[in-house]
Amino acid sequence: MKRCIFVDTDTASDDAVALMMAFKHFDTSLVGIGIVAGNVPLEQATQNALFVRSLCGMNTPIHMGAAQPLVRPLQTAQNVHGVDGMGDISLPIGGRTPDAGHAVNALIAAAARYSGHLEVITLGPLTNLAIALSVAPEIVSQIKRCVIMGGTSDSCGNITPVSEFNLWVDPEAARIVFSSSLNKVMVGWDISRKYAVFNDAEASELREIGTEKARIAIDIQRVVKQFAREEFGLDGFDLPDPIAMAVLLSDDCIIRKGNASVGIDLQSGSTRGMTIIDDSNFFEREQDTVIVLEASRQYFVDRLGEALQ
Ligand code: RIB
Ligand code: CA
Repeated sequence: MKRCIFVDTDTASDDAVALMMAFKHFDTSLVGIGIVAGNVPLEQATQNALFVRSLCGMNTPIHMGAAQPLVRPLQTAQNVHGVDGMGDISLPIGGRTPDAGHAVNALIAAAARYSGHLEVITLGPLTNLAIALSVAPEIVSQIKRCVIMGGTSDSCGNITPVSEFNLWVDPEAARIVFSSSLNKVMVGWDISRKYAVFNDAEASELREIGTEKARIAIDIQRVVKQFAREEFGLDGFDLPDPIAMAVLLSDDCIIRKGNASVGIDLQSGSTRGMTIIDDSNFFEREQDTVIVLEASRQYFVDRLGEALQ
């Protein structure tokens, strides 16, 4: 059976590279893309995804979804990725039309159409997926697997000392998703920090692939590179969504993993959206989430390079 993939994204500079990987490696197996507000407001995230689709010469349906979290006001990461989310390098973004239908309905329809085979990857806040689970609980058994870029397995956060941005934006949605019996795989920000950082030499090597995709993939990291260096002391920019996409591509990208139940903190202070990884059954809940603990940088970089050719 051919794979069937649905991507949910808050399209900014790393999401865009993950979409390039999805277009390249999944091609027509990529059956739909849903947009959620997160890094940037919904309209901007939509235009960014439409721009990448055009750049890659694809026609995968792209549907607009939730414009804000379930109950909290939207707080974006435009300070991290740029006002447009794509490094503010004056790309010709805008003026494109998304496909009809809400992203939640598109996800529910895809789950039904490809029942038992649909694989979902979320690259942004979990608002769309949480709504879909709430209005169509049957998708839990129709979705084969859900890879979630979010949380952190080592309590090292990027929006608070212990919280990761995607789950911090919409903790209520994250709790709905992680409390569901979806077949979940969590790729935390720890994986990006450890296996997906690109210094200037590594970034130049990718850019020297020489295609327009390669140049844009690197140049749009302009703002996040400065932020990652100044705020986290990383030796360059990191690509959380693309390494999560590599995990979806193949288990060959997973070197070590564990099972746990994942709690989500709903407070509004420094622990907002924190993933509480319980692998000792304190919660007395099924350890139903696979936590990626170690990933193959080589596998990731190889697939990334192929996508930029
Ligand atoms: O914490 C990293 C995540 O937040 C990535 O998905 C990035 O695109 C931002 O959405
Ligand atoms: Ca993202």
